[in-house]
Amino acid sequence: MAENGVGANKKPRLEDGLHHAHTICLVLDFGSQYTQLIARRVRENSVMSIMLPGDVTLERIQEVDPKAIVLSGGPNSVLIEGAPTLPSGFFEWAESKRIPVLGICYGMQLMVHTLGGKVHTSDLGGEYGQMRIRTTQGSQLYSYEPDPSQLVWMSHGDSAEQLPPDFSVVATSEQGVSVGIESQKRRLYGLQYHPEVMHSERGNQTLQHFLNTIANLHADWKMENILEEELEKIRRVVGPTAHAICALSGGVDSAVAAILVHKVLGDRLHCVFVDNGLLRLHEAEQVMDTFNNHLHLPVTKVDDSERVLAALKGLSDPEKKRKAIGAAFIDVFNNFAKGLEEKGGIKPSFLVQGTLYPDVIESCPPPGSKQKHSHTIKSHHNVGGLPKDLQFKLIEPLRELFKDEVRALGRLPAMNVPEPFLQRHPFPGPGLGVRVLGDVTQPDGLAVLRQVDAIFIQALKDGGLYDKIWQAFAVFLPVRSVGVQGDQRTHSYVVALRAVISSDGMTADWYPFQPDFLRAVSTRICNNVRLVNRVVYDVTSKPPGTIEWE
Ligand code: XMP
Repeated sequence: MAENGVGANKKPRLEDGLHHAHTICLVLDFGSQYTQLIARRVRENSVMSIMLPGDVTLERIQEVDPKAIVLSGGPNSVLIEGAPTLPSGFFEWAESKRIPVLGICYGMQLMVHTLGGKVHTSDLGGEYGQMRIRTTQGSQLYSYEPDPSQLVWMSHGDSAEQLPPDFSVVATSEQGVSVGIESQKRRLYGLQYHPEVMHSERGNQTLQHFLNTIANLHADWKMENILEEELEKIRRVVGPTAHAICALSGGVDSAVAAILVHKVLGDRLHCVFVDNGLLRLHEAEQVMDTFNNHLHLPVTKVDDSERVLAALKGLSDPEKKRKAIGAAFIDVFNNFAKGLEEKGGIKPSFLVQGTLYPDVIESCPPPGSKQKHSHTIKSHHNVGGLPKDLQFKLIEPLRELFKDEVRALGRLPAMNVPEPFLQRHPFPGPGLGVRVLGDVTQPDGLAVLRQVDAIFIQALKDGGLYDKIWQAFAVFLPVRSVGVQGDQRTHSYVVALRAVISSDGMTADWYPFQPDFLRAVSTRICNNVRLVNRVVYDVTSKPPGTIEWE
């Protein structure tokens, strides 16, 4: 998730980007929660992956020109009406081009079903969780591994009962279900389990073997190459004289995007960092110090806190709060752009944004949603978005990268972004505005929250836990409860702590801290933050909760 997203005002297709220089493995999405993970695993094996919804047109697939294709899993059964299908002619085309196709779970069943085999819904209720399978000697899929036994992660109700012509079973589960199938002649392969998840002990090897040996793909997706290609692209697109403008949020994505552009444009890049009064303890100073002294980015800091807090006074409705914060941001940004023109005679024509690949992926919609393709962009994240009439052309150098790739890019010696900065947890554009529930300007709200948050985050860092967690923060609740401190009855605030693990922020699970850690943090908070006498820990996953409380 890109931090502090300023809304995109054009939607170029991913295929327009740099990846045409690379060998591509296309991942077709049938709605599995693991599809992005498949795409990331492919890239970890140095092969560029692109995700498209499974039922796109064959022309779109052909435009991508993939050299291998993976069909993801999905929540549907191929036997129900309306289940997503591949475009007609897909397998004929792939076979005629000799493009290897690997179907995973739903993807395998779809392969079997489409090619004339039979899929069956198990009366036994399917297989879920970690299972042992036996692989067959002489198979192509498992030729990397002499041991015929491996543990895999299963999650299926349906199974292949009868295989299409030229297929054979190359792995079987303990229950006797065909969990690995292949047709060497047709270059089609299927796995009835998830090789992309860590619980499949040789899953990554199997994927790697599919990509590197079976499909024989050129492993050219390396961050060094991407850096060079991106710099070249920026040079080409911006040209020798144009200027660009960039709003830095203090997060990794906008900073890495700005550093890339700065390498090409130098003084022609103008960055602004807005202190909207909703930042964490000492955040504005720390972030400016990193920009100035470590990243050597030219950044103007604008203090807009008084105006934003005045605009927020009396607002409790989360949407109204977001709108007020977003509107103030647009004003500041506009003034910054106008100021460049009025004071320096500079009219920037480009806008740099830290948009990431997960922000632009089109994916398979949830079953029953009646949508065609869902878009993972969340409209409410665009509240800080810039109006279309600003007429900037966009530069989005990270548009094809996952977050872990942005970090890897930032880590390159040529980029030299400090590690603690790369590991910063995501922070929402509206900042603490979504973490003080109710009126942000209520007495004590922001001050208490800043102290509690700082204690919690420091404890995570001291305990070596910060980097294991996707995002952690405190929430200020406009609620007081009774307590007893030093023999005195108190009536003070309740604060909540939230820490989640996630791969993209779209789904998340709460982090299972040791009780001793929570006990120590709670004690430290109540002892050090005068107005707090109760600390609660949020044990809600997403869904049903969201990460932020708002
Ligand atoms: P939720 O609360 O929707 O958040 O589960 C998912 C992720 O998005 C972050 N978030 C935002 N990021 N602008 C942003 O750039 C926003 O308005 C915004 N709201 C939520 C949130 O912190 C989490 O990482």
